[in-house]
Amino acid sequence: MSEPTLQAQIDAANAYEGLFVPALFGQWATKVADAAQIQPGQRVLDVACGTGILAREVALRTGSNGRVAGIDPSPGMLTVAKQLAPAVEWREGVAESLPFPDQSFDAVVSQFGLMFFTDKHQALREMMRVLAPGGRLVIAVWDSLDSIPAYASEVVLLEQTAGQQAADALRAPFVLGSWEVLATLFAEAGVTSAEITTHHGAAKFPGIQTMVEADLRGWLPVMGVSLAEDQIGRILQEAELALSSYATVEGQVTFHLSAHLVTAKKF
Ligand SMILES: C[S@@+](CC[C@H](N)C(=O)[O-])C[C@H]1O[C@@H](n2cnc3c(N)ncnc32)[C@H](O)[C@@H]1O
Repeated sequence: MSEPTLQAQIDAANAYEGLFVPALFGQWATKVADAAQIQPGQRVLDVACGTGILAREVALRTGSNGRVAGIDPSPGMLTVAKQLAPAVEWREGVAESLPFPDQSFDAVVSQFGLMFFTDKHQALREMMRVLAPGGRLVIAVWDSLDSIPAYASEVVLLEQTAGQQAADALRAPFVLGSWEVLATLFAEAGVTSAEITTHHGAAKFPGIQTMVEADLRGWLPVMGVSLAEDQIGRILQEAELALSSYATVEGQVTFHLSAHLVTAKKF
């Protein structure tokens, strides 16, 4: 499969910012920034920044004397991030190889990216390396699929209508949902001070079709799964019934979402 053009990546990032950020990700930026105890004047790095919702929240707190940097491998995400917050330092790169000197940040934050890193241990070691002594690392990951029934229902629907690969693509964001898996990962990476807490929020989509279509057209292709148009049409039809219990009378979809915040201190 050929790489999408930069314009296609920017279009996808604009769609991400317009739909997924308000529906899912936006509310977590304040929780992560609170846990990181961001103060005016601090130097803060947002890893896997996407379109920058967390970096923007952090920049409000560090103020004009602070330094906020965001790093992500996606040029499309970074283009949108730059348009929304030109004052933040946006860098293209991966968590496994951070282009910053040792001890250059007072806090390192990251929400909903760790599950996608190719080498999670190396990424955690890198995030600790760039933290100054006394600095804080805060990482958010989704809770397990068992705790988020709406997505569990959508996974079942995809398994029945589009097969295992499509269902696995939708399972991927939730694979670090177990406390045991998370604790083991951080311990293996040498992060001895990690503490895990679980937090609660809500997802809000304008409707069932919007939610499922965004996953079918926006998320599955990112995971290497492209469905045919007639199959997408059939799944959207079946989704109306499969997810009906999460829709309000006005047709909006709202459901409980939980996530784990892992907090660690650099000694
Ligand atoms: C679900 S998005 C979360 C974006 C953002 N943190 C937010 O809350 O909206 C996951 C992000 O992880 C990024 N990503 C994937 N692999 C990465 C890696 N190895 N290093 C850094 N970022 C990565 C993707 O490009 C994507 O922007």
